[in-house]
Amino acid sequence: MIYNLHKCLLFFHSSMESIPPYLLCSFFLIIISCLMPYFTQAQTYKNISLGSTLIAKQDNNSFWASPSAEFAFGFQQIQKDGFLLAIWFNKIPDKTIVWYANGNNLVPTGSKLELARDGTLVLEDTNGKQIWNAESNNTGSVSYAAILDTGNLVLVSRDSVLLWESFNQPSDTILPTQTLQGDIKLFARYSEKNYTYGRYNMTLQEGNLELHVTYSPRDSRHHVYLTSETDGNTNQLIFNQSGFIYLPAKNGSIIQILSSDAVSPQEFYQRAILEYDGVFRHYVYPKSTISNGRWPMAWSSLFHMPSNICFMKLGQSGDDRGMGPCGFNSYCQMEQGRPTCQCPEGYSFTDPNDESLGCRQDFVSQSCDRETPETDQFYFQEMKNADWNLSEYEHFQQVTEDYCRLDCLSDCFCAAVSFVDGNCTKKKSPLSNGRIDASISWKTLVKVRKNFSSFKPGRADSEDKDRSTLVLIGSILLSSSVFVNILLLLATIVVFSLHSRKRSKVLQPRVVLPGRNLQCFTYGEIKEFTNEFSQELGSGNFAKVFKGVLNSDSGDPVAVKRFYNIVTEGEQEFKAEVNAIGQTNHRNLVQLLGFCTEGEHRILVYEFMRNGSLASFLFSKSGIKWHSRIQIAIETARGLLYLHEECSTQIIHCDIRPQKILLDDSFTAKISHFGLAKLLKTDQNLTVTEIRGTKGYVAPEWFRNMPITVKVDIYSFGILLLELICCRKNLDLGAEDEDQRILADWAYDCYIDGKLHLLVKDDKEAMDDMKSVEKFVKIAIWCIQEEPSLRPSMKKVTQMLEGAVEVSIPPDPASFFSSI
Ligand SMILES: *[C@@H]1O[C@H](CO)[C@@H](O)[C@H](O)[C@H]1NC(C)=O
Ligand SMILES: *[C@@H]1O[C@H](CO)[C@@H](O)[C@H](O)[C@H]1NC(C)=O
Ligand SMILES: *[C@@H]1O[C@H](CO)[C@@H](O)[C@H](O)[C@H]1NC(C)=O
Repeated sequence: MIYNLHKCLLFFHSSMESIPPYLLCSFFLIIISCLMPYFTQAQTYKNISLGSTLIAKQDNNSFWASPSAEFAFGFQQIQKDGFLLAIWFNKIPDKTIVWYANGNNLVPTGSKLELARDGTLVLEDTNGKQIWNAESNNTGSVSYAAILDTGNLVLVSRDSVLLWESFNQPSDTILPTQTLQGDIKLFARYSEKNYTYGRYNMTLQEGNLELHVTYSPRDSRHHVYLTSETDGNTNQLIFNQSGFIYLPAKNGSIIQILSSDAVSPQEFYQRAILEYDGVFRHYVYPKSTISNGRWPMAWSSLFHMPSNICFMKLGQSGDDRGMGPCGFNSYCQMEQGRPTCQCPEGYSFTDPNDESLGCRQDFVSQSCDRETPETDQFYFQEMKNADWNLSEYEHFQQVTEDYCRLDCLSDCFCAAVSFVDGNCTKKKSPLSNGRIDASISWKTLVKVRKNFSSFKPGRADSEDKDRSTLVLIGSILLSSSVFVNILLLLATIVVFSLHSRKRSKVLQPRVVLPGRNLQCFTYGEIKEFTNEFSQELGSGNFAKVFKGVLNSDSGDPVAVKRFYNIVTEGEQEFKAEVNAIGQTNHRNLVQLLGFCTEGEHRILVYEFMRNGSLASFLFSKSGIKWHSRIQIAIETARGLLYLHEECSTQIIHCDIRPQKILLDDSFTAKISHFGLAKLLKTDQNLTVTEIRGTKGYVAPEWFRNMPITVKVDIYSFGILLLELICCRKNLDLGAEDEDQRILADWAYDCYIDGKLHLLVKDDKEAMDDMKSVEKFVKIAIWCIQEEPSLRPSMKKVTQMLEGAVEVSIPPDPASFFSSI
């Protein structure tokens, strides 16, 4: 602040002599605006006087707010009877926590925070035991406390000196205007909802910014896994008021800007946090979405480091060991920008409630007895693009894959083997630093005992636990004396019978399809919970959608889709398709809950999306903010990516358009109507009359007697993307200028003529972000290439949207066909 002031005054002073008087006014304005932050901060001291207290109460977050009410300081309930003393963003629905005092030690209801008469800020539990305090060197002279509009909690002396600041004792987050320096550290929490110290911390040391990790989750020794490599030249990390995060050199010049994609602090909340997964991320949250009361959006990340935590060697000493972010035997994979931990086949989580602790082997290891090599007792689970690169112990060159496999099978030390281009690398147990990533060119074959058990490991439900107990019992049976065997056998029978009795009690009187818990409803039930189909939500060629309320205590609303004139071969086929839809599970897909196939009735029951379809917002007057539109584009892309490439049976949607994108309570985009193309047999029987309804979204191959592939969805997504960018329908026959009637053509013309601003000219936010507009238009043009093979895959589209890969210059969408 002071620094700013100096700069302004200097500027003013040096330029004063030569200016015409009428400009003086504007200089005064500049001065005032330079001083503004100083004044506003000075005014934001809202006194919390000595003797004030706050009590932790159930169902009532007691707090003191900052003058603007954007930040609050007080108790947040984390568990049933566990409160965290914290500072949080108070105007956003999820009250994101930015600072906390007692992460390791939650306090019960009735605990008290007091700004004592002697000037200490003290947290006491119900027994009067002190849990935490903020003590300045000079407590006696504290005159009041305040939570400022920057999110800083301060203890202030009579003469306005800050004696203590929460900014100097951060938890895992820093905020604009906050600086990391000296021996101040950020400590990541244990997991998203567990505020105990985790494995990671971040600090400035010997002139570098360093990220540290402990050797293992329960160890306190740690080592560096990422450093700024600033050669000892920096001793600060600054998060400045305009949202830049950078490392200044000791002389003040900037050596490294970490996050420069700054957005206006007037319009966005910002925070930078070292998260529980070891990644430091800079997040923004548009304020406007709150003030207009309609768009509670998620935080989106502007910057993160390291770029792929799965590739970091974490844990143990030296460069050649480490269990990675996920623990032994597991593998790490980035999904939607976050690392996830999974177990290979034959392994399951050591602690199903904490997937970062690694996996244990579920089968008996290979015997090393030479007489019984057990070579035929094992098989390989093949994993593409997978690697456990720190468990290697033997390497062969110029061998065949068969050689590689056989060698590992007959070697009792070999737990897995990697193979690429004649290179064979054997890995021993425990497998460490596992990851899957498209950049890994080789595959890994994980050795698993045949028929050890047929269950899929990795889920935290009790059934799996029971089964693994059985496996264990089974394996002990193989190796112990007759007497113990008999005892164990008896025990097993008891466990079994208890288990099955328990199951028969909880078994629901419903037909449940394999895969998911899809409920099979009777027509009578459906009639009842839709109140005889009284509330229609919409209708199409094949179906009508009604609102219903499930007969449960929760009273959750559902959407009931009732099909008419449906061409289906029979009940079995309908069930098979419904099952395929029911197996899907993704945040950006509308979830199928159940179905009815009684007599001629064909009905699907879905989760209900309170905010209806994207179309109703996108083309209405109120519109959707630019930032939210980007978010919706990315979410839709992720949903489609899942349907195309990630679910067990590939699903082509065939009808992507804004009417089919629904928005949930928090305006997350979810694709609906997927999987129905096959059900309705539209893929074969679609005639031009039938597609006319959605003209503009359908790919040219529908008309050209070409095979229908996933690329038809890419085309439709391209059109949708253009509509999201421009907030108008692809086809606007009322447009005054004839060139503008078809958005796809007009957008390409604007792109070629370098006049993209015409597309978003009434949208200030988009106008301020022309770089993104251009990127998105380019992606859309790639998607609407008339030649299907030129269109990118959904994976590529998603990567381009998220900025993970560059977008190259797209060709004219029609060029391929006009040239033949
Ligand atoms: C806060 O309290 C101090 C000391 O009692 C007082 O001097 C100051 O004016 C108060 N400030 C406000 C904004 O009330
Ligand atoms: C948080 O994680 C730690 C470490 O695993 C555990 O000891 C603690 O019980 C957890 N706390 C909560 C509130 O779940
Ligand atoms: C924040 O840092 C950036 C990069 O150095 C600079 O351009 C900007 O003016 C700074 N903002 C403030 C308020 O100091």
